[in-house]
Amino acid sequence: MTFKIISVVGARPNFVKIAPLDREFKKHPEIQHLICHTGQHYDKNMSDDFFKQLGITQPAYNLGISGGSHATQVADILKAFEQVLLKENPHLVIVPGDVNSTLAAALAASKLGYPIAHIEAGLRSFDRTMPEEINRLLTDQISDLLFVTEKSALTNLEKEGIDSSKVFFTGNIMIDSLIHQKEQIQATEILKQYQLENGNFAIATFHRPSNVDDEKKLNQLVNFINEVSSRIQLILPLHPRTRNRLESFELMARINNQIILSEPLSYISFLSLIEKARLVITDSGGIQEETSFLKIPCVTVRDNTERPVTVEVGTNYLAGTDFNNALNIVNQILNNQHKKGQIPELWDGKTAERIYQHISHYLNLRA
Ligand code: UD1
Repeated sequence: MTFKIISVVGARPNFVKIAPLDREFKKHPEIQHLICHTGQHYDKNMSDDFFKQLGITQPAYNLGISGGSHATQVADILKAFEQVLLKENPHLVIVPGDVNSTLAAALAASKLGYPIAHIEAGLRSFDRTMPEEINRLLTDQISDLLFVTEKSALTNLEKEGIDSSKVFFTGNIMIDSLIHQKEQIQATEILKQYQLENGNFAIATFHRPSNVDDEKKLNQLVNFINEVSSRIQLILPLHPRTRNRLESFELMARINNQIILSEPLSYISFLSLIEKARLVITDSGGIQEETSFLKIPCVTVRDNTERPVTVEVGTNYLAGTDFNNALNIVNQILNNQHKKGQIPELWDGKTAERIYQHISHYLNLRA
């Protein structure tokens, strides 16, 4: 018996989460794995480069849906993915992460009665103003298999009444990607390209709507990174959302000219910079996890995190968006007074293997 599985990806972090599973499925001839790219992220350096570097099978479908309001994005994906489902009639639909593509694909599958596996289930920021939190809550409610990265997710799902027989603590699949690419990450010459000195620079990334869509907040953020750059060389790859906002609020010129600005970086280049940085400043979710694994101090400029294990066990500091506090933490790190961190449980490069075992068991029982 062969099983047809469709994985739906759309945005940068999804690609990193699906690559290890795609590789794992290739080892098992009974699995036919199709990838559907919604098109949510479409620039070469936000999408194609990730597929190439991570060795992901080319998408069987690209829905070409991007931009627009969240409602439009979700609605368009919902309609387009329904057609893919009707044509392919898969045994299972896999959705990773918490982006709009995740929710839209899960909803289309659920309406047609296809079983859904959610990778990275159960994470909660408890902040419903975050679009991702709504995507997480709703996707988990309609999923049939829920794979979780850390134990806090088990508690969250239990409190929301999700039957524990559907939930599996399988570890962090992003770390599978990192471990698989470690040699290339170490070999890249990215430091030379930006004339950076190993261990003597910081890297910062921001793209959360709560930080960049509000002019006053973004202005404070620029002040903060300017302050950081007076203490240590700083490189700032700009997400398209952030670049757009900096330009429309006319804040580009206020960025200290010692700061190295770059386009979004490829997976290997970015991870290589993280690995060699003195510290990382971010509002991303995945970067809190990658820095914890690499034991690089991370300052998260958000009021909450859905990934508490990175703070409790890893190297992450939840600084809030009071930038004075964030600056104090940066100073502590530069004075070497920071926590050293441990690698969280089951972040060991074997998550895809464990997820495959559960999926295989589930599909064989239903066959
Ligand atoms: C999305 C996810 C967020 C994730 C982030 C990773 C949602 C709700 N948000 O946010 O959880 O952390 O991706 O990067 O799904 N754009 C480009 N080129 C691209 C991609 C986007 O120019 O390749 C533009 C879009 O047209 C849009 C803006 O950037 O104007 C934002 O893109 P969008 O996908 O809506 O959300 P992100 O902010 O990227």
